[in-house]
Amino acid sequence: MKPREIVPQIYYVGAIDWDRRLFDSLIPLPDGTSYNSYLIKGKEKTALIDTVDPPMRQVLEDNLDELGIKKIDYIVTHHAEQDHSGTLPYMLAKYPQAKVVCTPRCEELIIELLDVAKERIITVADKETLSLGGKTLEFIHFPWVHWPETMLTYLQEDKILFPCDFFGSHLATSDSYVTDEGQVYESSKRYFAEIMMPFRTNIRKSWEKLNGYDIKLICPSHGPLHNRPEFIVGAYKEWIFGEPKNKVVLPYISMHGSTKIMVDYLVRALIDRGVTVKQFNLAVTDIGKLAMELVDAATIVLGVPTVLAGAHPHVAHAAFLANALRPELKYAAIIGSYGWGGKTVEQISAMIPNLKVEVLGTVLAKGLPKEEDYKALDDLSESIAGKHKDSGFV
Ligand code: FEO
Repeated sequence: MKPREIVPQIYYVGAIDWDRRLFDSLIPLPDGTSYNSYLIKGKEKTALIDTVDPPMRQVLEDNLDELGIKKIDYIVTHHAEQDHSGTLPYMLAKYPQAKVVCTPRCEELIIELLDVAKERIITVADKETLSLGGKTLEFIHFPWVHWPETMLTYLQEDKILFPCDFFGSHLATSDSYVTDEGQVYESSKRYFAEIMMPFRTNIRKSWEKLNGYDIKLICPSHGPLHNRPEFIVGAYKEWIFGEPKNKVVLPYISMHGSTKIMVDYLVRALIDRGVTVKQFNLAVTDIGKLAMELVDAATIVLGVPTVLAGAHPHVAHAAFLANALRPELKYAAIIGSYGWGGKTVEQISAMIPNLKVEVLGTVLAKGLPKEEDYKALDDLSESIAGKHKDSGFV
């Protein structure tokens, strides 16, 4: 990928990762991703905004060489995680005059995690500015998007926000800017679900710090740039501040078909009562899709058969993941089938302490569901639909 001038004296020098298919060895990336890095040339000083994931180091280096960059004064480090800072030690060696610019908390982390020498670091206070000569960087401390040390940078003269992970998307594309908002909405929501959703409460507290900034362009560190900022800002507002929707997420697995019969019956009953359902067979599910649906669902129903005297491990994994992602679900239920006994409900219930949900019921069938089990599923669907209506989610 060649360097590209975004606006005069500001260049994209990052790397597109077309082939990456898993992030954090956890969330599938069907459309790859990118590690965006930007070079800003002021009249007096030059700054690099973030670096790239170490396997892409050569791309960044080639881009800077192609631009003829012999000296970098500052490397603005928004975030200490490897995909943006892993190449930092190398860049500091390549550009011996460069100083890292970061928050005090980030200073601690890059010393501990990346062995960066303290004398190479300048820490900046919230709202502090740094002039490059006709290009003024304003640093906005914005902790917990999604680590404690994170900050954003606003380039005053050009009205550009560099928010690192915030407003990012996992999407490899040769287009500099968002061209297909539907596709980017999906990629951004997948990203938000895994990375930002667990910190939604913290983000709400910081959000108002963005008020008052006139933002013409958002240059995140993953995915395409936003030259229509209101699109991604609006999507984030919806995900951060929006009420849950009249929606049930139903991850399940079935061993011999009984749990599947119960899931299908409950789904039909919910649809009959006007509830949207997102059903995920965990044997084949992209868990990134499951995470995305948790962003705005009101209810989770776990469909879990009993195996080896307890919860099926695939559903245990989904429950553990949901607990870690901290979606703002309001209601939960467990359904499933068992053969002779077990501790399935106790195990699953113990795995989701972060979900502040009202449990609406448990329907367990011994083997194939019987008449009383179908009646219980009808009652459960009635209860879910009623709760959604009473809560104003319909
Ligand atoms: Fe894209 Fe938190 O790193």
